[in-house]
Amino acid sequence: MKRIVGKHAEYKKLESNILQISQEAKAAKKKYSDVIDATVGMLHHEEGNVFKFDVVDDVLHNLNDAETYHYAPVRGTKDFTEGVFNWVFGENAEKIKQNFKYSIIPTTGGSGAISNSFYNFNDFNQKVLLPNYYWSPYQNFALEANIDLKTFLMYDENFHFNVADFKEKALELAKEQDRLCVLLNDPSNNPTGLCMTKQDWKEVIQVLNEVSRMDIPVILIHDIAYIDYQMKDTKYSREIFESYLDLDDDVLAIVVFSGSKTFSLYGFRVGAQIGLSKTQETVDHFTRVGDYSVRGRFSSVSQPGLNIIGKIFNKQENKIRFEKEIEIAKTMLKDRATLFLEEAEKNNLEILPYCGGFFISVPTKNKNIFKDLVDDHVYVIPMQDIIRVAISSLAMQDIKELVRKIKKHI
Ligand SMILES: Cc1ncc(COP(=O)(O)O)c(C=O)c1O
Repeated sequence: MKRIVGKHAEYKKLESNILQISQEAKAAKKKYSDVIDATVGMLHHEEGNVFKFDVVDDVLHNLNDAETYHYAPVRGTKDFTEGVFNWVFGENAEKIKQNFKYSIIPTTGGSGAISNSFYNFNDFNQKVLLPNYYWSPYQNFALEANIDLKTFLMYDENFHFNVADFKEKALELAKEQDRLCVLLNDPSNNPTGLCMTKQDWKEVIQVLNEVSRMDIPVILIHDIAYIDYQMKDTKYSREIFESYLDLDDDVLAIVVFSGSKTFSLYGFRVGAQIGLSKTQETVDHFTRVGDYSVRGRFSSVSQPGLNIIGKIFNKQENKIRFEKEIEIAKTMLKDRATLFLEEAEKNNLEILPYCGGFFISVPTKNKNIFKDLVDDHVYVIPMQDIIRVAISSLAMQDIKELVRKIKKHI
């Protein structure tokens, strides 16, 4: 057989256990009435339909032809870029503007932002540092960019963010490859539900600065996909950005925004990467390579997606409606999480500390946990020594039974 694919592509085989298990769960649900599917990372109502925002629906259905069908500008629109910036940084937006140079590039979801950043801010064969529990597509983005991942321990013995291990691995990697590119998914981490504290962020930034002072390039990729689902007031979920003010001059921070999660626009493929640095030249490089990669990898983003978000942020009436609806979404998630935690406590089931997001994780020593649960008609995502439960797609009425079954097999 002739070698039909390029050498660099020989290894490729998409083994997304998440998508596959989700399909299996759906098929089982058609066969049996008692199947519990806790695999899907999309927010769903109790009755099983996707959580749509009415304001998103209204704006979408009132877009004109140009706003729907034309190619979107590579740089997006001011309504979109400034709207996203102000939404992401909230009360800290002005402070960030005063202290940083910045540039906002629309991308095909948070995925497009991460994959472009992996590609542009590493040499081939270098590694990105991230915690040992992570959203598995990061691995695909890395291999596609000819780089790899290196992990540090997410938790210390008290299940707090492990700053000490982060520091050790960061210094080791930086010295080894003369570059440090870090990826943190915070707050409301997927898969664990961890939220780093303000102090954790302060210490992480001290480490980044320490490396930068060794004359090593430092890039922080901050994936905030679930920032709007932290179990805190929106105002407080943005507090972590205060620590950014301590960043040294030429560190580059790339904040990754996902329109999928914030607006339930999963299928529209819209998001953004916000490049921030105190040095204009660093931001100019970010914009230069970012623009190029948008064009070179996916041409531009979804025009309707871009316009829906722009129109929600630029019109006060829409923004207020959106803010109200996102509170409803948060309350729905919070009710599920609260019940899950209560049931876990009653059943003596140990779970990882949850402070927001679509997922709760449960540590396990059972190597057959996935199969055991499937035999009991429960579908979750197994990862190393935890199982990930998507409360985003879980109905309240299933939680008691789910916790009981998990406890039985854990
Ligand atoms: C941790 C994390 N980051 C980023 C994303 C990106 O999603 P999208 O590309 O749909 O914006 C997801 C989606 O599941 C995610 O879980």
